[in-house]
Amino acid sequence: MNMPDEKALRQLHEGLNLQPLWIPFTANRQFKAAPRLLVSAKDMYYQTHDGRRLLDGIAGLWAVNAGHCRPKIVEAIKKQAETIDYATGFQLHNPTAFQAAEKVVDLAPEGMDHVFFTNSGSEAVDTALKIALAYHRARGEGTRRMLIGRERGYHGVGFGGISVGGMVGNRKTFGNMLGSVDHLRHTHDPARNSFTRGLPEHGAEFADDLERLVALHDASNIAAVIVEPVAGSTGVLLPPKGYLQRLRGICDKYGILLIFDEVITGFGRTGKAFAAQTFGVTPDMITCAKALTNAAVPMGGVIVKKGIYDTFMEKGGPESAIEFFHGYTYSGHPLASAAACASLDLFKEEKLFERVAELAPYWEECAHALKGSPHVIDIRTIGLVAGIELQPMADKPGARAFEAFMRAYQKNVLIRTTGDTIALSPSFIIDKKQIDEIFGVVRDVLKTLP
Ligand SMILES: Cc1ncc(COP(=O)(O)O)c(C=O)c1O
Repeated sequence: MNMPDEKALRQLHEGLNLQPLWIPFTANRQFKAAPRLLVSAKDMYYQTHDGRRLLDGIAGLWAVNAGHCRPKIVEAIKKQAETIDYATGFQLHNPTAFQAAEKVVDLAPEGMDHVFFTNSGSEAVDTALKIALAYHRARGEGTRRMLIGRERGYHGVGFGGISVGGMVGNRKTFGNMLGSVDHLRHTHDPARNSFTRGLPEHGAEFADDLERLVALHDASNIAAVIVEPVAGSTGVLLPPKGYLQRLRGICDKYGILLIFDEVITGFGRTGKAFAAQTFGVTPDMITCAKALTNAAVPMGGVIVKKGIYDTFMEKGGPESAIEFFHGYTYSGHPLASAAACASLDLFKEEKLFERVAELAPYWEECAHALKGSPHVIDIRTIGLVAGIELQPMADKPGARAFEAFMRAYQKNVLIRTTGDTIALSPSFIIDKKQIDEIFGVVRDVLKTLP
């Protein structure tokens, strides 16, 4: 690790003015009173501003799937920055974006063979929703304008994403969002499924909620349904056995597009490139981001089925017309594209998705060994993801899990919490000793929690 020495760290910290920066999704006042700064990173570890080595149990934020600062990715970005820093993607483009696109669609489920690049997961979601509306309109079914999400869904922070999302914290402040939206009920059913190993046995019938919404709104008004195959940010909620298949069937019956938001599950997290492949259900669109570039440069994308892309080309008017009036200044940015190419090559070279599948049984065993620890009311795992749900403290939702995060941080392990669930999602280069260390620290911390 390229570690600053202690003196340099002290100078860095003491010289920093913490005030101008408004930090995202953070309790700013609390943070600035006692900051936690990450100053360098290598493989499975961060270094903190107070000189500690922190084992990263969350791959940055479900993102650094090949581990931190991998030389091949760093080199690719450096080389690209020296060659071409930026090129507009509008009516011109750079070759690396095409190479990145080819590598992405090579990994995608059969028949999903085009990708539209964005800069983040939120933008990927908004892009997918716009593609859905424009697709139906191009086909002459312009009444299909309703977008359906699911309770406890997280789809980023754009107005589209928070509208179809189902997390109250993201919605309550913003008043009228997209108008034509409805939600399926969520699939979390602890009474029937707590401590299940693998996918929950009960709950495929929750997909039938889409029939209810079709009966209410009529299919001729519904454009698309968007769900996370595994809901991450609302507590690692796994799809009940058969649920996604049933949802796919109902979408097909009524001509509704199915979008899987794979921003966290994409690129190997569940043991195959996409959760769509792990669960054997092919959606019409996949949104992705995060590990697409191993998080080294921001990038997202929407992968679409051939029929969707072809419709835009066939119905797009004269050849000189822009078929889809949408894009970002940085869509297919050369540095992001170079990082994507290097990351996707590295995943393949090191067989990292296969490694997830190999480690998953050990990971599951270690997670479920926490059953019986204080406060634990459910444990859910898939691939290299674990959700350890804690009993909330009376009148203080989230406080117990946040305390677990703080105490684990003091013990040099980085975990993440969402609500009262501890969500773990390490890089795929993790070894068994490091897995033991993460769960050992979580076990110790649970014993000390209020
Ligand atoms: C499922 C899902 N969709 C969308 C997003 C938003 O991605 P970003 O933060 O890159 O905008 C996230 C972020 O965690 C996510 O988990």
